[in-house]
Amino acid sequence: GRFNVYITRSDMPDVGVDQLRKECDVKLWEKPSPVPRAEFLKSVAGANAIYCSLSDRIDKELLDAAGPGLKVVSTISVGYDHIDVQECRKRGIKIGYTPDVLTDATAELTLALLLSTSRRLPEAQHEARTGGWVSWAPTWMTGPGLAGSTVGIVGFGRIGQAVARRVKAFNTARILYFNRSERPEAKEIGAEKVGFDELLGQSDFVICCAALVPETKEVFNKSAFDKMKNTAVFVNTSRGGTVDQDALIEALKTNQIRAAGLDVTTPEPLPLDSPLFKLKNCVVLPHIGSASIEARNTMSELTAQNILAALNGKDLPAELK
Ligand code: GLV
Ligand code: GLV
Repeated sequence: GRFNVYITRSDMPDVGVDQLRKECDVKLWEKPSPVPRAEFLKSVAGANAIYCSLSDRIDKELLDAAGPGLKVVSTISVGYDHIDVQECRKRGIKIGYTPDVLTDATAELTLALLLSTSRRLPEAQHEARTGGWVSWAPTWMTGPGLAGSTVGIVGFGRIGQAVARRVKAFNTARILYFNRSERPEAKEIGAEKVGFDELLGQSDFVICCAALVPETKEVFNKSAFDKMKNTAVFVNTSRGGTVDQDALIEALKTNQIRAAGLDVTTPEPLPLDSPLFKLKNCVVLPHIGSASIEARNTMSELTAQNILAALNGKDLPAELK
């Protein structure tokens, strides 16, 4: 018989879903929103493959609910902190994800967020729209430039490196990185490996591109913000969980750091009454790092290809090992 695939929302890009429909029986949550947990637990029963996103928690309970026929969990994301990897391994369930195909898109968004935070674009547009633009003014809406600055990147994987390559084009003075292991690519990029505290102390821009794992949980805490320059701009395009958000709010309120640009928060979506939305020196985006049209389409194809390969007993094009 045909394999059963469960897809956790109705609005996954067509290209991947259509590929699955050709070979499998596809069942999906009928709304363009994350499947509610109770519904997920119920509907996933009997699935051979799950096509999920970072909004869906794939844990022991969910794997139990799917049952013994489950062969693969395929997420339309590069991050996999929402998946209990150990539990999948124990059960011989493969994990597919989407590295590489979103690297350019996420690096582009990181630069966009960096510039809109440092040069205060949302604030400036708000002023222009609401009558604050009364004349050209010499010190109004000023912020730090990238040229001549030191940029520190925490997490120097594919995305961190892609950010470094782009940042270099802005004539930065130095690029520092912190990473568990040495990265051979750093030499050609011209990035220097330093300790975490050294990076915090020397960088004008601190960018987090680190995967969320136990070692990176809330590494950006009060002590970290205290070590940053008062003029520092902090940018996070990885996961909200790398930041102690209350400590960040305090650092922004007290001008311990100058500004923050966040594509990721805790929780997501960020509640409307969050203090982060009230701070002029904070730019918050709704987790759109990989949201180029090309990247999302390619991600959806890769998510489908990972499923089809696993179901047919072949090597996954992008398996989390
Ligand atoms: C997005 O955050 C991703 O992990 O792909
Ligand atoms: C993974 O997090 C990457 O940098 O691609």
